[in-house]
Parts: sequence; structure tokens; C-alpha cells
Amino acid sequence: MDLSPLDAAGIAEAVKAAQSAFQNAGDFNELKAAKLAHSGDNAPITKANMQIRYLEKAEKPQAGKLLGQARKAIQSALNEATARLEAEQEERILEEEKVDVTLPTRGTPCGARHPLPVLMEDISDFFISLGWDIAEGPEVEHEWFNFDALNFGADHPARQMQDTFYIDGVETLPDRGDSAAKEEPAKCAPQPGLVLRTHTSPVQAHVLIERGAPVYIACPGKVFRTDALDSTHTPVFHQVEGLAVDKGLTMAHLKGTLDHFARAMFGPEAKTRLRPSFFPFTEPSAEMDLWFPQKKGGAGWIEWGGCGMVNPEVLRNAGIDPEEYTGFAFGMGIERTLMLRHGIADMRDMVEGDIRFSTQFGTTGRGN
Ligand code: PHE
Repeated sequence: MDLSPLDAAGIAEAVKAAQSAFQNAGDFNELKAAKLAHSGDNAPITKANMQIRYLEKAEKPQAGKLLGQARKAIQSALNEATARLEAEQEERILEEEKVDVTLPTRGTPCGARHPLPVLMEDISDFFISLGWDIAEGPEVEHEWFNFDALNFGADHPARQMQDTFYIDGVETLPDRGDSAAKEEPAKCAPQPGLVLRTHTSPVQAHVLIERGAPVYIACPGKVFRTDALDSTHTPVFHQVEGLAVDKGLTMAHLKGTLDHFARAMFGPEAKTRLRPSFFPFTEPSAEMDLWFPQKKGGAGWIEWGGCGMVNPEVLRNAGIDPEEYTGFAFGMGIERTLMLRHGIADMRDMVEGDIRFSTQFGTTGRGN
């Protein structure tokens, strides 16, 4: 039976029913259903409200008051329930989405630079600190620069195939036409006279020709020899070349530069010693030994590289007058330098690319 707009008890009952339905609503869906039931179009209170207009005029104020209060009470119960559910929801979200900033992170392993290029940069920095320039030359080199310009005779043993990688030919790429795919494999055009440089000394020839004298340069770079990879050899390795040409340079300048460089690389106790030797592009020539306190079995001399006074023939080949200018040059292996500095026993560790090798030197290679 419909609720009468004048039924105070019934109205109070409906209010109570609405209040308890709202209070008991456990989530927004339940609240929505309770709202429909107790204050929707078909709710007893709403319907009773619609009946007011059919009442006698005298009865209307009474009914209006009763229902007005009832609807107000229902609305405020609804507001309360809504606020309660919203607060609960907020709490739940805070709880569910809580981030524990004290948890340990998983951590992304950091790569590391290879110690060789880092050492090459350190070596460059050293020579720059002396006021020298850094020079570069091509790795695929003309035989003339690698040998002839450096006074290697035509029959010098270093030219032999067992030392030098000769470039057979260069692939000529077919035209990029539609038929390209069907064409014969690219042919090799013979390219006599190209080699992979066997040392960094051809940079001397380039620099002397291009810049003339006076000149002070260091050239760290990659070189190639037909050695099999083992604990003391690798077919691809690095050297640093030094060249100074000026008026009045003597072997004393060479020795002083080498000692200074040795101390920069190996500490204040380091020094060098020169032993007579032969290179076609220096005269006189010397092997340079390094005083190495950490040498296995006790401090001693250990071979570090080659050096000498630039051969007048080499200066002449570059159009420089050897009566006016003299120069000195030296070259040493960078792998060897790294091995000596860090007690690395096996060259293969440097080429195999195992990250554990590089990370020992720190992520930047400079000890941090
Ligand atoms: N180029 C020589 C080598 O590879 C080293 C060297 C450089 C010797 C400069 C003398 C002067 O063995």
C-alpha cells in the first residue's frame, strides 16, 4: 500500500529504512540501489510527495512539512553514506598503490669503457700537455707510405706476406638497378699497393708532407700484422707514434721525452734505456727499454718500443731539408703498455669483449 503523505509514523519508518539502507551500503553499487529504492521516482517517500497536491488545502502544509523533513533527512543520510564510501575508497587506493621507497632497487648493471681507448685518451692528454698535436692517418694505407716513404728497401723483409696484410682488391659494387640482384657477384678490381698499416710510422710521412717542419705530433692508432691470436700476439693492436722535427733536436731530447712519458705512464720511479737497433726510417735507431719495478722475479728492464733520430732520407722524401731540421721519433705498443701497467698476463683478455674484464677498470676506466 502506498504511503500517505499524512502518515507521520509511516514516513518516519521510511526515513529509518532509507537511513539504514544507506548506512549498510558496502560499495557504490549498493548505495546506488538503495538510493533508487528510497529516493528514486518509485520510492514511497517520492510517491507520497506526489500525492500532496491531491490533499485538501488545509492538509497540505502539514504533509509538506512532514515530507520535506523526511526528504531532507534521507538526502543527508545519502550524502553521509557517499562521503563515507568515498573516504573508504581513497583509503583503499592509498593502501593498494602504496610505494615502499625503502625497498632495495633491482639495479641496472652499468657497462664499462674498454681500458684501451681510455689509455689512448690518457696518452693523448699527456702529449697535449707537452704542447704536441694529435694526428691520425688511414688504417688502409698505401704501401708507399707504410714502407717506401719510411726508407724500407723494396726487398725489406717486413714487406713479406707473413707480416703484412695486403689488400687484394676492392669490391666494386654493381649499379643499383633492378637487374642488380641477378648480376654476377661483385668482381674484385686489383688494387696493388694497398696494405693494412703495420705500424703507425706512416703517419710520420703524412704529417711531414702535409705540415712540414717544425712539427710535434703523437698518433695513437690501430695497426695490423699477420700474427695469430695468442697470449702475447694479436693481429690487430695499437701503437702510439711520436714525432718531433725542429731545428737542433738531438737524441737528448728523445731520451728526455721518453723518460717523461715513462713516468707519466708508470710512476715516478720509471725510466728508459736505449739499446742500439735498426729501423730504416731512423738513424741512429734504438730499442727502448723501460725500468719496471713490478717485473716478475724482481725489478728489471723490459722492452717497450722502438725509437731513433728521423732518418735524413725520410725528411728528404717529405721535402724537408735535413741540414736545417733534425727530428726524433718513437713508437710503442699500447696493449703492451696496458699489460705492463695492470699486470695483464694474456692479450686475449683484451680482445674477447668480456664485460668482466672492462669493469675491473671502473665504469669510466678512470678508476671510479
Ligand atoms: N714503427 C716501429 C715499429 O712498429 C717503431 C718505431 C717508431 C721505431 C718510430 C722508430 C721510430 O716497430
